[in-house]
Amino acid sequence: MTSSRPRHPLPEPGWPTRAEAEASRLFSPITLASGCTAENRGWIPAMVPWRATEDGSVTDAVLRWYRRFAEGGPGVLVVEATGIRDVKSGPLLRIGHDRFIPGLRRLVDTVRTASSGRTRLLIQILDFLSIRRRPEPEAYFRRFLAVHDRHRTALADHFADDAWRAASDDGVRNALASLPIETAATLLSERERDDLLRGARERVTDTHLPHIAELPKVLPGLFADAAARAREAGFDGVELHYAHAYTMASFLSPINTRDDGFGTTPEGRLRLPLDVLGAVRARTPAPFTVGIRFLADECIRGGGDIDDGIRHALAFARGGADVLSLSVGGKFDDAAAPRIGEAIYPYTGASGEACMPTVFGDVPPWSRHVPLAARIRGALRGNGLPVPIVTAGAIGTFREAEAALATGSADFVGSARQSLADPDWWTKMRTGRGAEIRRCIYTNYCEALDRRHVEVTCQLWDRDTTAPDDGGRCADGRRRDIAPPFSV
Ligand SMILES: Cc1cc2nc3c(=O)[nH]c(=O)nc-3n(C[C@H](O)[C@H](O)[C@H](O)COP(=O)(O)O)c2cc1C
Ligand code: SF4
Repeated sequence: MTSSRPRHPLPEPGWPTRAEAEASRLFSPITLASGCTAENRGWIPAMVPWRATEDGSVTDAVLRWYRRFAEGGPGVLVVEATGIRDVKSGPLLRIGHDRFIPGLRRLVDTVRTASSGRTRLLIQILDFLSIRRRPEPEAYFRRFLAVHDRHRTALADHFADDAWRAASDDGVRNALASLPIETAATLLSERERDDLLRGARERVTDTHLPHIAELPKVLPGLFADAAARAREAGFDGVELHYAHAYTMASFLSPINTRDDGFGTTPEGRLRLPLDVLGAVRARTPAPFTVGIRFLADECIRGGGDIDDGIRHALAFARGGADVLSLSVGGKFDDAAAPRIGEAIYPYTGASGEACMPTVFGDVPPWSRHVPLAARIRGALRGNGLPVPIVTAGAIGTFREAEAALATGSADFVGSARQSLADPDWWTKMRTGRGAEIRRCIYTNYCEALDRRHVEVTCQLWDRDTTAPDDGGRCADGRRRDIAPPFSV
């Protein structure tokens, strides 16, 4: 349940003095198995800002976005989910061809300069399957629906008239299109109903489609090529996107019933993710870092839970991952129906609320995923596996960040929205200036922009006319595109 009024006050921040920060776990270094050292435990997880060109290239706006985060001094910055294929995907970054390398190299150089070489830089690489916008019902019935005898039977039962059993395809289409949509939906299969009300989308179980059947053959190579390009561009490493609503998370899910050895059983579901990890590792050995972001809990009916999360963590650690970044939810399966003409958005249902928790939910969002991280990290350490764990999810205070580290729940503290609200919050904490931090209010204005596929900004600064301004604006000409500057 969500309400439209904030239900949970921001927690006490416990900002440290400079001396306390210097002695803290948060501002202590850590070295990964790859040999890569982060100078502190602050981690900015991937956030898509919708600033690439339509053909997936780095723009000046992309450079401004990452420069601003790097100036704030996080230990690790992860570049947004970046497509491993060279296919049309709107203003999302791509790494599916060598022509993207020069732009990505500029991004690396920008971050190195802005952080004086101190922030480690990963890029999140992902594969996704095709999704269509929700169709007009008329268009769906007349153009997309494949008519079967079960539709004739359903119409015969509905109208109590056996003549429908001999109806032509067009007769079936016309009859369904003329019914109220709620009634017509009851005469369809579950999949057809989903296509009608939420837009058609491919699943990893659609093995009748050759390009889906061959995913296990093509993905290891595509991910490995992408990682090799990231290394050539100068990144410290990649983060394999095995989380949320996308291809690799779908392979890991218990909902994956593929019967070709890449689904159904826990081992089968892990097989392709491990093949991809192996291929990437082989192409990009240490000191290049290979991390994985995956779900500690899918938060959907029939989906994976913390036991799956633990099993996956153990397998990835044994498979050679250098760092594991945890998320939860963010699935298409329980996402709200979009409006006609719009695409389904995976952060709308209960699993979406779990992924980016707000102050509107029943449960306070603060540090909500830390107990899951603690269980996964505990299982790893119990098995002698020292791989570092990143936890995220409404951690926006020093007190919570330090507690997650002090209790041994995590090794890095991921903070996406607080870092967007104030990219300098790491520096401010470190220098004893916590009182100057612009605190995220966790109402998800930024997420609503992401949903509309327009440039992501923060409501706390995008219309602030009192702060110094270099004139950078979003395409709407009104919102400033990056947070105001801060001088130490
Ligand atoms: C605008 C926006 C874009 C995001 N894009 C990504 C993404 O590309 N990849 C990803 O794994 N998570 C993405 N996330 C999820 C965040 O990385 C993070 O897991 C989530 O916001 C919870 O952390 P927080 O409470 O610190 O914000 C995005 C979040 C936001 C707000
Ligand atoms: S827009 Fe709202 S939720 Fe997003 S970073 Fe800013 S304050 Fe936080």
